[in-house]
Amino acid sequence: MRFRTKQIHAGVTPDPTTGAILTPIHQSTTFVQPSVDEYMATGYSYSRSGNPTVRALEEKVAALENAADAAAFGTGMAATNAVMLAMLNAGEHVIFSDVVYGGTYRLATQVYRRFGVEYDFVDTSNPANVAATVKDNTRLIFTETPANPTLKVTDIAAVSEFATTAGIPHCVDNTFLTPYYQRPIELGADLIVHSTTKYLDGHNATVGGAVVARTDELQEKIKFIQNSTGTTMSPQVAWLTLQGVKTLSERLDRQSANAMQIARFLEAHPKVTKVAYPGLESFPQHELVKKQASGFGAMAWFELTGGLEAGKKLMGLVQLWTLAENLGSVESLITHPVTMTHAAIEPEERLRIGITDGLVRISVGMEDAEDLIEDLDQALHRI
Ligand SMILES: Cc1ncc(COP(=O)(O)O)c(C=O)c1O
Repeated sequence: MRFRTKQIHAGVTPDPTTGAILTPIHQSTTFVQPSVDEYMATGYSYSRSGNPTVRALEEKVAALENAADAAAFGTGMAATNAVMLAMLNAGEHVIFSDVVYGGTYRLATQVYRRFGVEYDFVDTSNPANVAATVKDNTRLIFTETPANPTLKVTDIAAVSEFATTAGIPHCVDNTFLTPYYQRPIELGADLIVHSTTKYLDGHNATVGGAVVARTDELQEKIKFIQNSTGTTMSPQVAWLTLQGVKTLSERLDRQSANAMQIARFLEAHPKVTKVAYPGLESFPQHELVKKQASGFGAMAWFELTGGLEAGKKLMGLVQLWTLAENLGSVESLITHPVTMTHAAIEPEERLRIGITDGLVRISVGMEDAEDLIEDLDQALHRI
């Protein structure tokens, strides 16, 4: 099956008891066992360990990523945490991309550090840096590409090739481009993390996450952590996400086309000093994105001539754009990473990796691009 067919049909069959075309919300804690001898005959016992609505979403996400299987979590951070718990013991080492979502940085530096897990944040846009940082006790390479918020890109195939040779699992946070535009397992990665909160849901309606596994063996390790730590997605969230995913390709194509128009507008604006959007020829890794993804996504950032103060003022002057955390939904959002999504990273580290105080991040939605541009234009004129 091709992608658009899979996003609608994979994992979902009409309900055998009623014919309902949508997978029902199986809002049940427990599942009746036919007899002691037939325990788990239906595959379900208790909703922390497995639930039919959640399972439908897991099967759909695995099919979209062309992977062996997937596990759905209560949040994207729970998904990232499951990968770390499944792969690392105290005293072992993990390599992260230097630019990652602020919550991922916080998880390593403020939680795992307490349990003796070692880590390095390295510039994975140069695969040689990964090879140079590997130690005897490295058990996980975790990249995020394009990375939140600077959009720095990692060559997934190159890092995966190195990881495979070294026998270290490579996990890619694929939240920004989704399987519609980028499929890391096809490029050699072992695990994928999603914040389904973002494009997979796409409607600002849920918080959720998923881990996708290349092999059944990796899936088993992730499922064990999911059940042991009790971080499973709820059936309500899975149901809403199942409906959202059906239009993923159409939303992303529209949002990306809007993002391209807006990036070109910003690039030509005299009050804008810098614009980063992977679809622009001026984007430093434009060619790499073209090589490993089939689209550029709908995330971009820019800086203004007036720096931080101008950026803050702009966020108060826009009317259609909404000042809010989150990204990937049909509503266009504007964010100040330094005070919002990436506040957990120390100021010196933020500056080192390019998250400047004046950086304004935009998540482009599905509105008419002309309206979004007009709103930015009026706000830029007033600062
Ligand atoms: C790239 C990326 N990964 C992971 C997460 C964490 O996801 P959640 O907020 O669903 O826990 C986020 C959240 O913004 C993100 O942007």
